[in-house]
Amino acid sequence: MRIVFIGPPGAGKGTQAQKIVERYMIAHLSTGDMLRAARDAKTPLGLKADEFMSRGELVPDDIIIDLIRERLQSPDCRRGYLLDGFPRTIAQAEALDAMLASQNTPLDVVLELQVPEDELFRRLAGRGRADDKPEVIRQRLVAYRTQTEPLLDYYRRKNLLRSVDGVGTVDEIFERIRAILDEFAGA
Ligand code: AP5
Repeated sequence: MRIVFIGPPGAGKGTQAQKIVERYMIAHLSTGDMLRAARDAKTPLGLKADEFMSRGELVPDDIIIDLIRERLQSPDCRRGYLLDGFPRTIAQAEALDAMLASQNTPLDVVLELQVPEDELFRRLAGRGRADDKPEVIRQRLVAYRTQTEPLLDYYRRKNLLRSVDGVGTVDEIFERIRAILDEFAGA
């Protein structure tokens, strides 16, 4: 299965991603995790990315696209993968389409996790990651609304988009996701 996971900051993508990849035995490709690992390792890419992440802005498309292109070549991606936090712009989505078309491996489904803004703030304020300061959360939300939300129409037009209510317990939300993904897993 090849899945794209879209949702605003704090929607629970990372939390649900762990359960999804375990159940369907696919790779978890989180661009946020990759960038934080590169930042912590102080690689040139990580230090460059951190300038944008610490402000709540998106990292430039060319950096992210190269990162994903390389990661998709890994053997663990052959069984399928969940893209968590990628694509986040139309340019990234078009680059992904081109990569997948060249391998004849189309996406199966794009999952959107829907959570109201007041709940997103509550969740992120309770966590405390470096980019969870209120002014940075606000900027991350602006980036989501302006640069990432247009992807919903992009994937709706391709008939790939499935939206999930992201409010409830972690297990309740996972059951909603599972009901959709089992269609594609043939379970
Ligand atoms: P990224 O790491 O992708 O962060 P994000 O999208 O802002 O998402 P979060 O990780 O904050 O939230 P989440 O939806 O995963 O929720 P989580 O499960 O953690 O990106 C970080 C930065 O990297 C970006 O700002 C950008 O700079 C850069 N970047 C990454 N990808 C990029 C790309 N493709 N292009 C350009 N730049 C890119 O949950 C959040 C909290 O809520 C947790 O505390 C959790 O325990 C709690 N929670 C989860 N589920 C529930 C629930 N059901 N009820 C109550 N609490 C819950």
